[in-house]
Amino acid sequence: MDKFLINGGKALRGAVAVSGAKNSALPAMAAALLTADKVVVRNVPKVRDLVTMSKLLAFMDAKVSVAAVPASDYEIQAPKLNHAEAPYELVKTMRASILTLGPLMARLGIARVSLPGGCAIGARPVDLHLKALEQMGAEIATSRGYIEAKVHGNGSQGRRLKGAHIVFERITVTGTENILMAASLAEGETVLENAAREPEVTDLIAMLRKMGAQICGDGTSTLRIRGVKELHGTEHTVIPDRIEAGTFLVAGAITGGDLKIHNCIAAHLGAVIAKLHQAGVQIDIVDATTIRVRGTEKLLGADVTTEEYPGFATDMQAQYMALATQAEGASVITETIFENRFLHASEMMRMGANISVEGRRAVVRGPAQLSGTTVQASDLRASAGLVLAGLVASGETLIDRVYHIDRGYEGIVEKLRAVGADIERVHAPGT
Ligand code: UD1
Repeated sequence: MDKFLINGGKALRGAVAVSGAKNSALPAMAAALLTADKVVVRNVPKVRDLVTMSKLLAFMDAKVSVAAVPASDYEIQAPKLNHAEAPYELVKTMRASILTLGPLMARLGIARVSLPGGCAIGARPVDLHLKALEQMGAEIATSRGYIEAKVHGNGSQGRRLKGAHIVFERITVTGTENILMAASLAEGETVLENAAREPEVTDLIAMLRKMGAQICGDGTSTLRIRGVKELHGTEHTVIPDRIEAGTFLVAGAITGGDLKIHNCIAAHLGAVIAKLHQAGVQIDIVDATTIRVRGTEKLLGADVTTEEYPGFATDMQAQYMALATQAEGASVITETIFENRFLHASEMMRMGANISVEGRRAVVRGPAQLSGTTVQASDLRASAGLVLAGLVASGETLIDRVYHIDRGYEGIVEKLRAVGADIERVHAPGT
């Protein structure tokens, strides 16, 4: 298992470019299942989850063409889907495999998708996806760890989902995306209330619309989808990764550096930028796609509560905690999205951070001098938080289980090294 070795204490200076959003590229690739035509998805980050998604599509008999693996452009064509199945072997490595359920049900009226199960940060059920599909006429059973879904019907409308009025009990990002895709080919209109408003949802809507879908309400919590009989091919460039951009903002701030972050959309980072301002970080929006972050003499503690977009993203919580360890005073961090998303706190405490966790609240008191040691990454964003802590710690930090970070950050080691970080990947074959 690879590890990262970081020698902390270097201020990051220079320019770094953000890759495409993992969480946009995943539904975009799944959406290619909705048509027999060719779909080209561009600006795909070269990370493991997208390779897994391409394997999943290929398993279903879609033709996936790339110049090399991993790729930033994927050509996908699914004239016929012979296996309407997402097998456990792939789903267990990537929960977002559930994003194939909506397209399969829309296109074929039948799907067998392994239940994703929980992960380190919480139970993460998919009950809301399933209830919504049931409202659209699907019969769903779970058996031997698989979701088995089908639409009964006869005549020309056989096996076609029906539009429905769906109100999500709570906001779900991939749930919204699944229902958007399912409803695009359903018979009649679907109204989805309490929908997620994340930029990645809006990006999917833009792509589906180019494929011929009739959707309105983007960026609001009520989406209306008028189903069409067929969707056609398209080319789509996914938006920049706002979480990667936010991670670099914290990297610049925590190391007292001066970073220009290119290829990002400042408008998607409103809550993070506002919070960093409050913490005393200097941030300038240089232009529509460039942000400059400069460190400050003194970071100030500021409370954060994670929320759905446009609130402060749960995917930025671990990185913000790393920053809070360096800020003067107390920062209360409240996690409202996932029930167990503070696993990085105990690792930061092993590095010398002063953090107390009670349920969904963590109180971080700073500034604390962190010192390097061996730490374990527990999930994708926790790994990013530990990398940031390592960048500011004295001495060597060795981060174990970095396969988590490889799921979602393209070339993180190379990008950080290019702006002055002392970080390397240590290959540990056979462990
Ligand atoms: C997506 C993102 C992930 C991010 C999360 C929250 C992708 C591929 N992943 O995950 O990076 O951290 O949004 O912003 O886009 N829930 C239920 N029942 C459901 C669905 C969700 O109870 O059927 C709960 C979840 O357990 C969680 C909350 O709702 O507590 C939000 O989850 P959700 O928005 O669905 O997260 P994902 O779409 O899995």
